[in-house]
Amino acid sequence: MRRKESLEVTEAEIAVHWQEEDYLYPSSQFIAQANMTDNGIYERFGLEYFPECYKEYADLLTWYQYWTTTLDTSDAPCWKWFVGGKINACYNCLDRHLAKYRNKAAIIYVPEPEEEPHVALTYQELYVRVNEVAAILRDFGGLKAGDRVTLHMPMVLELPITMLACARLGVIHSEVYGGFSGAACGKRIADSGSRVLITIDGYYRSGKLLDHKEKADAALKVAQESGQTIDKVLIWRRYPGKYVSETPIVDGRDHFMEDLLKDYAGEKVEPVSMPAEDPLFLMYTSGTTGTPKGCQHSTGGYLAYAAGTSKYVQDIHPEDVYWCMADIGWITGHSYIVYGPLSLGATSVMYEGVPTYPDAGRAWRIAERLGVNIFHTAPTTIRMLRKVGPDEPKKYNYHFKHMTTVGEPIEPQVWKWYYQVVGKGEAVIVDTWWQTETGGFLCSTMPAMQRMKPGSAGPAMPGIHPVIYDEEGNEIPAGAGKAGNICIQNPWPGAFQTIWGDRERYVSQYYEKYCKNKDSKDWRDWPYFTSDAAMQGQDGYYRILGRVDDVINVAGHRLGTKELESSCLIVTEVAEASVVPLADELRGRAPDVYVSLRPGYQPSKELEDAIVKAIETTIGKIARPKHVYIVPDMPKTRSGKIMRRVLAAISNKKDIGDVTTLANADIVEEIRKIVQGE
Ligand code: WTA
Repeated sequence: MRRKESLEVTEAEIAVHWQEEDYLYPSSQFIAQANMTDNGIYERFGLEYFPECYKEYADLLTWYQYWTTTLDTSDAPCWKWFVGGKINACYNCLDRHLAKYRNKAAIIYVPEPEEEPHVALTYQELYVRVNEVAAILRDFGGLKAGDRVTLHMPMVLELPITMLACARLGVIHSEVYGGFSGAACGKRIADSGSRVLITIDGYYRSGKLLDHKEKADAALKVAQESGQTIDKVLIWRRYPGKYVSETPIVDGRDHFMEDLLKDYAGEKVEPVSMPAEDPLFLMYTSGTTGTPKGCQHSTGGYLAYAAGTSKYVQDIHPEDVYWCMADIGWITGHSYIVYGPLSLGATSVMYEGVPTYPDAGRAWRIAERLGVNIFHTAPTTIRMLRKVGPDEPKKYNYHFKHMTTVGEPIEPQVWKWYYQVVGKGEAVIVDTWWQTETGGFLCSTMPAMQRMKPGSAGPAMPGIHPVIYDEEGNEIPAGAGKAGNICIQNPWPGAFQTIWGDRERYVSQYYEKYCKNKDSKDWRDWPYFTSDAAMQGQDGYYRILGRVDDVINVAGHRLGTKELESSCLIVTEVAEASVVPLADELRGRAPDVYVSLRPGYQPSKELEDAIVKAIETTIGKIARPKHVYIVPDMPKTRSGKIMRRVLAAISNKKDIGDVTTLANADIVEEIRKIVQGE
């Protein structure tokens, strides 16, 4: 086993060390109504019943045909679940609810401008719209099962409609987060081999109507440079009959969905009966190297896992009003705004904009007005809401029974504010740890069954069997007070199947590190390496410390340091770039950029701005660095490796440690002065 470069800095190394907190307990009222109170579930999902135990989740769905093999390991470590089974994800989210819930809200949409009315889409209406769009995609778009289509859409109702329309046809959707730049979208178009791009003219963010169509043109250019042509751009409009973008329409290539819909009004499309292990969607995420990875999620396994975890961990009942304030452009939105809740016949709230727009009370006004009783968000948002309006929740008459935190470790202080002020001491909290790759939760308390501990995600989900290894592959036991690499011993249905078009990378990044035998077809030989550091308390609860790879978690969004560094190199004056995570009060982490210049160039404010701009155009505004430091040279080892650890220590005002073995030790003090002053 290769020892991890001890000179690299990891997020975990700069993680805060919180003290152990006291437990809190769910109320008897919550327990009385909860979907899962049966302790037997952990036993039923024990390793001795694996993999058959997952039938319990799959049985939450309606199958055209039951599977013959629960888990097929013949192509290890590409696991196939429910092989032989036939299913359609859209049917499970819509058609099967019509008999009972036809007239119930499936999605309630809240536009950002407060004067615009909410839209409550019933299951019937959603069904009608999804069918019309499916007909367009099939007959006008020429799309069929297995084709990929890229969606670059913000939080508008047409996003879940389009996703479900794809799912109805077995078309693999690849939704790119709306805040990503056109260039970032273009790379993903090229990688997925999409010939159709679906987008929108504009949307609201912080009170501004943004031009989104312009990103489509940038995306197509980048895709084309990588050899991928888009034949059709399908454009939704934020307002009916009005085009709000300044960007011209390209004749023959760009089409308004509104115009097409006139020809497809009331069309119905039979859901395509898909093999359970066929892909449902791709979700790109950042990893160790520069190019984003297209995580390929299956239809049957993914949906079963999303449904099961939504039911038992989110405690969603059809009569609840559930609001997950994530963006559908991320995995949380796919699993816990769209597929999980809708597969259960829930009412899922979708909000277009910024939680603090126009003021700190917005989120709580929405909750009050809609009668939201399950609330789901990320620590970065909780920190922001706490900062701008610590007393706001008290002013509104809403009552949550359940709240979720997801995406990064949550500081106990912030957790307690969430619990006492947002939850009014009434709501249970689940701290759910998982990843784009995992499809659904890996660790969380079962809300009615286990006590909460601020700052800890809790025990593993039923059927998930983690193990913490040190670098040598020795197990670190619970209560050892030591952190290590948290891995999952067994496959589970929500796990991604591969990286789109790059099986080798899938194997090497997720399964090679602790693999016991590379020729083995036995899942026991292939622990899943999460790239997170964690420690397990005596009580079995896991505390997640953060990434051990070159990924920075900024406001719950994953950014690869390599992606950021290569963006800096677009600026011709830049010779070398190094990006490190800076602890940030609101965003959790923020990128700090260090660059050195090519000979003959001088540092300037213009250059710093050009670097920020380069990052914003290649990745998006979410990647905006906190600082750009132009330094005379990078601290390097004798073999020429840039020492990020040293730069991270300087950024975070931490002990720099011993640098005497560096090739250019003197530079460290120089850089320190640039960053920290004398
Ligand atoms: C981090 C988001 C601590 C972790 C669903 C993981 C968390 C990465 C938690 C995945 C949590 C997610 N506590 N850390 N509850 N949830 N993380 O792919 O480092 O956007 O590896 O998926 O976020 O981020 P991703």
